[in-house]
Amino acid sequence: MRADYLIIGSGVAGLTFALKIANHFPERRVVVITKSEEAESNTKYAQGGVAVVIDEIEDSFDKHIRDTLIAGDGICDKEIVEMVVTEGPRRFKELVSWGAKFDKNTDGGFDLGKEGGHSENRVVHHKDQTGFEIERAILKQVNRTRNITLLEYHFVLDLIIENNRCYGVYVLNEKDGTIEVCKAGYTVLATGGIGQVYGHTTNPEIATGDGIAMVHRAKGKIKDMEFIQFHPTALYDELSAETFLISEAVRGFGAFLRNKTGHRFMFDYDIRGELASRDIVSQSIYKELKESQEKCVYLDCTHLDPDGFNRHFPMIFSHCKSLGIDVAKDWIPVIPAQHYLCGGIVADKNGKTSIGHLFACGECSRTGLHGANRLASNSLLEALVFSDRIFRYISGTSLISLTVGHDFSEWNPIQKGEIDPAYVKETEEELQLLMRENAGIVRNDADLVSAKKRLLLLQKEVEGKYNQYKITTSLCELRNMIQVALLIVEQSLQRSKNCGGFLKINQCVVS
Ligand code: FAD
Ligand code: SIN
Repeated sequence: MRADYLIIGSGVAGLTFALKIANHFPERRVVVITKSEEAESNTKYAQGGVAVVIDEIEDSFDKHIRDTLIAGDGICDKEIVEMVVTEGPRRFKELVSWGAKFDKNTDGGFDLGKEGGHSENRVVHHKDQTGFEIERAILKQVNRTRNITLLEYHFVLDLIIENNRCYGVYVLNEKDGTIEVCKAGYTVLATGGIGQVYGHTTNPEIATGDGIAMVHRAKGKIKDMEFIQFHPTALYDELSAETFLISEAVRGFGAFLRNKTGHRFMFDYDIRGELASRDIVSQSIYKELKESQEKCVYLDCTHLDPDGFNRHFPMIFSHCKSLGIDVAKDWIPVIPAQHYLCGGIVADKNGKTSIGHLFACGECSRTGLHGANRLASNSLLEALVFSDRIFRYISGTSLISLTVGHDFSEWNPIQKGEIDPAYVKETEEELQLLMRENAGIVRNDADLVSAKKRLLLLQKEVEGKYNQYKITTSLCELRNMIQVALLIVEQSLQRSKNCGGFLKINQCVVS
């Protein structure tokens, strides 16, 4: 297989780049590889919306820049923040021109929601299913574009690297088990998040950090992995293995956070109350629960206009209803859950990684926008801006054709027997528990050190299985997740100063 432009991942970041480059070079071959069905991605589940400065009277670029820098707690790259915020409105208009629908207010302007850490209403949205609508609209365009080939159920195993240059990937066809080489002029990683490393996450099953693990194996730069964002309000449902998000936009709409006694506790921690940035709200809930030994806190929407709530949040309304929670009368039980990775593959302002001909955008990348804590609804924005930056950069450079006759070794098919799926499942569950207990909202060095020891043992064991057995997606995902977990733990150990979503409290031992 051969591509001029190869994209790994079919979320907002990968598809946006694919569409742009394919339209610009209609004679060139664009291949998108994705490991599940085409729409499955973190993107599809995004609720709140896209943060973008549309209202030029109340809002301004300066305010959005300031809010992003404050949320990032001193670790953002200011130049990148300015670039993303100021390019945002143009990228949003493009999205609308591709057919994505956003809610309007009675004046015909875009309805602007508010979320934690934003000083103004600036979040454009499609009810509480913004990501679904964005994914639908871009996929429709992609599927109409003649020179894009989209391969579903293909799992990228590893990058092909020679002399720190990427020449493509090895890819497993999940339907027939064959492993092929896909050569590429340029490769763009848009492989999304890592939520499954924690298990208790708002992310779907595809979020296993594959791109980050691949770049690490290829000796590329990975940074800021300690900045895991925990969303404060995932629905607390003891009976379900899935974690359903209650959008931050619900708090922007006026919902209160209460503890079991009914106390509206957020003002004890921050003058912004429920609309403090996400790191602060999650850490506050953690403290409340630690003190009370309760299992969850509550979102109180009972004082809000029920029709307005239903209009804005129809999916949340009906999901709660299906569990017997009437949001007009009952408080919604919530707890924090892993939600987002602020760090990842180091990418510069044009999405270039530390490896030649390899680019990264979207949640798998670390661009400097989010710092120690991402401002709500800045992720879809980042994906839109950086996929465009990569497009503009690459379209301005010549396509260096692959060296004719330059052959890459085929995948070495030494694997024999089939791995026991129960082993993979059990090891994955052990990893997830280990990470929840030792690398969660609050960490300490002793736990991190013991987690690292166990992870290294698991890594050795799984590496052995990987070399011994037939390659499967779940075995490779497990291998990747262990690698990502190690990066989180090691970079958490290296960080000595708390900031944003990173909170390490080491106990003083009195002798
Ligand atoms: P994704 O959309 O996750 O796409 C990754 C793609 O890579 C998938 O297609 C996956 O199958 C593919 N892939 C991964 N590994 C491989 C492999 N080895 N081989 C082949 N394919 C692979 N952000 C906001 O800005 N606003 C919001 O309102 C918002 N709400 C959210 C709500 C939820 C419940 C979640 C989970 C996230 C939310 N986010 C939100 C975050 C945001 O949705 C994501 O960060 C963003 O969509 C990531 O886009 P992406 O294209 O980088 O990755
Ligand atoms: C949400 O709707 O609360 C998620 C927003 C985000 O992750 O940016």
